[in-house]
Amino acid sequence: MDQSENTPVNPRIASGAETIGDIIERRLSRRGFLGGLAAVSGFALAACAGRPPETGAAAADQMARPAPAFSFPEIARGMDRTHHVAEGYRADILLRWGDPLWTDSPAFDPLNQSAAAQQRQFGYNCDYVGFVPLDPDTDAAPRGLLCVNHEYTSTNLMFPGVAAGYPASVTREIALTEIAAHGGTIAEIRRTPEGWRTVIGSPYNRRLTADTPMQITGPAAGHARLHTSDDPAGARVLGTLNNCAGGITPWGTYLMAEENINGNFLGALPFGHPEAENHNRMGVPGGRYQWGRYLDRFDVSKEPNEPNRFGWIVEVDPKDPASTPKKRTALGRFKHEGAESVVAPDGRVVIYCGDDQRFDYVYKFVTRGRFVPGDRAANMDLLDEGTLYCARFNEDATVTWLPLVFGAGPLTPASGFNSQADVVIEARRAGDLLGATPMDRPEDVEPDPRTGRVFVMLTNNDRRRPDQVDAANPRQANRFGHIIEITEPGGDFASETSTWEILVRCGDPSIAEVGATWNPLTSENGWLASPDNCALDAKGRLWVSTDGNDDTGAADGLWAIETDGKRRGSGRHFFRCPIGAELCGPVFTPDGETLFLAVQHPGDGESASYEAPTTRWPDFTEASPPRPSVMVITRIDGGMIGG
Ligand code: FEO
Ligand code: CA
Ligand code: CA
Repeated sequence: MDQSENTPVNPRIASGAETIGDIIERRLSRRGFLGGLAAVSGFALAACAGRPPETGAAAADQMARPAPAFSFPEIARGMDRTHHVAEGYRADILLRWGDPLWTDSPAFDPLNQSAAAQQRQFGYNCDYVGFVPLDPDTDAAPRGLLCVNHEYTSTNLMFPGVAAGYPASVTREIALTEIAAHGGTIAEIRRTPEGWRTVIGSPYNRRLTADTPMQITGPAAGHARLHTSDDPAGARVLGTLNNCAGGITPWGTYLMAEENINGNFLGALPFGHPEAENHNRMGVPGGRYQWGRYLDRFDVSKEPNEPNRFGWIVEVDPKDPASTPKKRTALGRFKHEGAESVVAPDGRVVIYCGDDQRFDYVYKFVTRGRFVPGDRAANMDLLDEGTLYCARFNEDATVTWLPLVFGAGPLTPASGFNSQADVVIEARRAGDLLGATPMDRPEDVEPDPRTGRVFVMLTNNDRRRPDQVDAANPRQANRFGHIIEITEPGGDFASETSTWEILVRCGDPSIAEVGATWNPLTSENGWLASPDNCALDAKGRLWVSTDGNDDTGAADGLWAIETDGKRRGSGRHFFRCPIGAELCGPVFTPDGETLFLAVQHPGDGESASYEAPTTRWPDFTEASPPRPSVMVITRIDGGMIGG
């Protein structure tokens, strides 16, 4: 987790301006309202999904003890130096930070790192993992392209001698190595009799870094607010930053979500600069990295427009390693967590995104054009035209999707918006004016084409005051997060009105003050805190990974969450991270028999350093620092993950 996610910059919150929580006083009582809401929305949803409403049903059915959809033996909560997976499963390391991608890649040598070496090796802090199947090879072995984001660099853990004298200890070469360790990796993988293996030297293998040339497309392309000394046309940018979660489109491209881009900038804007309010709304400059000491473009006093060129969704064609990635500005600029997509019944494509900061918003983008199955070329620029919406979660259990369209409502020159380019560059401010609901850190948002449901992970937000509580963010000091389930009517993901309910309020259900609402069938290991990433498996079942469960005294990990039947709202603990790590990734192969996980920032901790990490996972040698890694989970006896 980047601490900037925990620092609200929404001026509606800072100023105490109205949130939908302000209307809570109209309710007769909080308890009565929530009970009524759960009953109404649960009843409506149960009618279409054939399952009981959230509240009350589970308790009433305790005696029945129905068979769960998941049947793996749970692991115990806990925290130690290594990972743990459910009995009957294998958890193997597939790609570690520094692993070679080509036959000429330098061997990992943590004492002699360089940008040149890192550009040929797997990057740092793996986050999103996508899987694009390829046709089986001549040996009929399953294979595919793994698309992995490298969200950020943990300078303290990566480089010897840096933590003690930081920031002065960061040399130019360290800064350039960090730039090379950001971005993403595309790697061909192949299933051998011994398990999944990276195809070193595959022509598909590619490193994307914070220095890879990319094209800017969509409504902000070429706009003056994107012009810089290096790029006076505002059309070509070097690199992608802080790629958190992402997505794979129906046409097989890889979407990388730029999240906490503010941290990469140093310096101060000239007094009275017109970008001051915009940068402030994004928390720019965040000053997390020292790159601006060596490269002018990361110093806003020298290049005030450079931050406007980050915070977008980047689309990459993983099947063409020579292709130029495209920043699709139609999807707006904010701290994008993910970009999971689905095809609406009329063929338009819908992409869901969270803006991961306390009191920021949930978005969806609906393409103007329609997906053409089997015609990849026809779909390749679908993301350049469409409508971006932000979500208002109403107290009547509906969602109103508010269009961010120049000229509509308050999005006019009177408010400082002079074009659609201004609207997408300042999507957050547009959302403020439209009245989107400030949320408890929206992370992954996952649509399920089988049911029309959309799962929204809300990590936590302990800054919400009692007067800022609302129906969709019902806890003040929400330290452990919750999961919202949106239902798109009739499976119409492009709808401008939806319904919502809370699937579960997370945290320890045995502590009354926490206010968790797990199904009572959940075991003492089955509850989680701080949901972050999620995935649906081949059966459409929900799996949730965490970033912050360690605040409860047990490591982050992966839980299977029941969303239907009498166990709806219960969890089951499947995988546990080594100490210091959060868990990212989760993605399944289409057959559901392989699960990829990303273990991010293992060995981190309060005063952790290269010299003194909290673990040396996964190599466990004195010479090796901890290495963020992608893992492969399979069943020892074959078959589908989760039972
Ligand atoms: Fe990068 Fe929102 O976690
Ligand atoms: Ca996170
Ligand atoms: Ca995340």
